[in-house]
Amino acid sequence: MLLLFLSGAPQSLVSSLKGHCKAYTIEKMQKVFPDGEQYIRILPEAKGERVVVVQSLYPDQDRKLVELYLALEALQGLGIVNSELILPYMAYTRQDRRFLTGEPISVKALYLPLQLFNVKKVYTLDLHSPRVSEVIGVNIKNLLPHAYMARKAGINIDFILAPDKGALHRAQLLAESLGKPFDYLEKYRDRVTGEISVSSHELDVKNMNIAIVDDIVSTGGTLAKATQMLYNLGANKVYAIITHTLISERTIKTLEVSGLEKLITTNSISHNVTIPAWIQIVDVGEFLCGELLSASV
Ligand code: R5P
Repeated sequence: MLLLFLSGAPQSLVSSLKGHCKAYTIEKMQKVFPDGEQYIRILPEAKGERVVVVQSLYPDQDRKLVELYLALEALQGLGIVNSELILPYMAYTRQDRRFLTGEPISVKALYLPLQLFNVKKVYTLDLHSPRVSEVIGVNIKNLLPHAYMARKAGINIDFILAPDKGALHRAQLLAESLGKPFDYLEKYRDRVTGEISVSSHELDVKNMNIAIVDDIVSTGGTLAKATQMLYNLGANKVYAIITHTLISERTIKTLEVSGLEKLITTNSISHNVTIPAWIQIVDVGEFLCGELLSASV
């Protein structure tokens, strides 16, 4: 197996994938032209091998997608078709339908070219919605890492909560693996202002350690509101197990104020803020390689 690492792949994940997948790396040359356009040249020793391209699509989602497509076209030019992709974080997948008239289905607009390049399979972590595979017509292996993350963090959890009904499948999977109860909160997001409100049906969380599970934390609005509500209901400690942490300094402040005990996340993306001690980043290299190596080719 040969791995081609593009610039979005976080350094910690690159080292870990190299170690755990026991694969060779494809050499490449890259530069940016003075006008900002990207250039890539793949050194042509990859023929006849299983080629896996690794790219994470954040930060700077748009440029990372362009880089990915340039690399796939270059591979095709070298006669390497049917490559596989590890895209730990797939940007633009939250807009998987037209919520308001006149909006695009972003996931369709941005990922349809994967068909053009005959991509055989995409390995990703925790897609916002499993619908994405149908929308873009590519075989996607959507891996949910919450149980792996909880194990690595070694926290004591009594109850698992999804912040909205759409995240219930994550809560259920983690709950089943830990043998704990689970439920969901009711979330409402104003599609125009982005304002969030969170409420619950009857929920007894008194003195319990709760884990909120979700795919993404971005502004922190969802997580902060849910955390505060759970403390108001008498929870002991509130943890969050969230795969992709697309956060700014402002998000960190919002979450600090909420009293969140710990946020457990992954190295699916590179973080461009200083990560405080209460955020634990779990390396998912071993988790991804396990999947890759057990897949039939
Ligand atoms: C949306 O439904 C997602 O699953 C997350 O809950 C959302 O992206 C979190 O965003 P924020 O941190 O901005 O509330």
